Amino acid sequence: MSTLDQIDKQYALHPFTHLSNHQSTGPFIIEKGDGVYVWDDEGNRLLEGMAGLWCTSLGFSEQRLVDAAMKQFAELPYSHMFTHRSTPPAIELSQRLVEMAPDGIGKAYFVNSGSEAVDTAVKMAWYYNNALGRTEKKTIIARQRAYHGVTVAAGSLTGLPYAQDGFDLPAIPVMHVETPHHYRYANPGETEEAFAERLAQSLDAQITAAGAHTIAAFIAEPVMGAGGVLIPPNGYFEKVQAVLKKHDILFIADEVICGFGRTGQVWGCDTYNIKPDIMTSAKQLSSSYLPIGAVLISDRLYDTFQEYTDRLGVFGTGSTYGGHPVSAAVALETLRIYESDDVFGHVRHRAPHFSERVQALQNHPLVGHARSVGLIGAIELVSDKASKEQFPAADKVAAKVMAAARARNLILRAVPGDSVAFCPPLIINDDQIDEMFDAVTDALNDVHQTL
Ligand SMILES: Cc1ncc(COP(=O)(O)O)c(C=O)c1O
Repeated sequence: MSTLDQIDKQYALHPFTHLSNHQSTGPFIIEKGDGVYVWDDEGNRLLEGMAGLWCTSLGFSEQRLVDAAMKQFAELPYSHMFTHRSTPPAIELSQRLVEMAPDGIGKAYFVNSGSEAVDTAVKMAWYYNNALGRTEKKTIIARQRAYHGVTVAAGSLTGLPYAQDGFDLPAIPVMHVETPHHYRYANPGETEEAFAERLAQSLDAQITAAGAHTIAAFIAEPVMGAGGVLIPPNGYFEKVQAVLKKHDILFIADEVICGFGRTGQVWGCDTYNIKPDIMTSAKQLSSSYLPIGAVLISDRLYDTFQEYTDRLGVFGTGSTYGGHPVSAAVALETLRIYESDDVFGHVRHRAPHFSERVQALQNHPLVGHARSVGLIGAIELVSDKASKEQFPAADKVAAKVMAAARARNLILRAVPGDSVAFCPPLIINDDQIDEMFDAVTDALNDVHQTL
């Protein structure tokens, strides 16, 4: 056991970790990275099949991002954006983001994480309705199995018990509606369109029952990530948007995972034809080399904010590091690389091969459902393919597949619904995709033999 291992166990409190188990297993220490690979402290090279936490789009050795950070550190390591101040990288970044955003988005506001972006989006939805005198219009609709982060508002919107239990969440007015996962929740024989229609009608009924005058916004990840990589059924977002429009409810698109090419388009909103009022982003915005997030808002919201602050005196929110110049410079360079290296085109070109390899897993005896879009995917494990029956939760089969993959030098993640997620850096090539899915197949076989 290394000294670092002992120090970690003595002093570090780890997020989303079983604390007692940690005392026996100790930390998994990553020491360096190169391209799509990382090395642990025992010298093993592992393919990072989750791009960290769905975020290291450009891999682990992009020199242009290191240079952008060093240059900005030398020029101006810190400034802020309060009271009219700004910096060249923050200004340029806001322009580039708005230009990349769907029609109607007009302003960018900087934060430091996805959770902070979501909390800010909620505050903005409340602020907007207060500005319009609609002081009861405050509830946010989220979906069961959504993951929107862990801070007080974002953690309230997250629809996963493991991220709420013990923390007195939800702590804001929230309504959780059905999860749009056709494989698991559709009725027998129900088409994707019919399932989407049923969910939209149910949403409409729940809004009507609560009173539309009490509902501020609907928040959705275009593809639900941490809840299981759940890809919306055909027509879902078109139908949901029609319901929201009817009831004058804002659409917050949580693009923290999908944003910047993950689904093959710039935004998940582009892939699923979503016209958001507010967008939250982080992660791939800077390839996660430094923390930064952005909340993008429509001109309609901004105009209302401007008029409201004329009355209130100030747009009274902000944080010390929001728009940090070094993070902004790294994000700006990330967006330049996406353009100069046609990274999103690369995703679209790799996606068919990625999808072919994901779909091939469907033939494995443990796999009930295999799904992907762009360079994100998952397999859902079942004990019986015909009935879709799952293994007992206590068997933790997805976690076993994750561990077996690790033993074969591949990092994957077990996600709810006994699923295993795939989300490699966007720069992955076809040979590396093959290496990844060969290891997934071997890991599934390893686990299958033990069951
Ligand atoms: C869709 C989505 N929103 C928000 C968050 C929270 O981001 P962060 O961990 O940066 O706070 C995440 C994190 O995985 C996410 O996947």
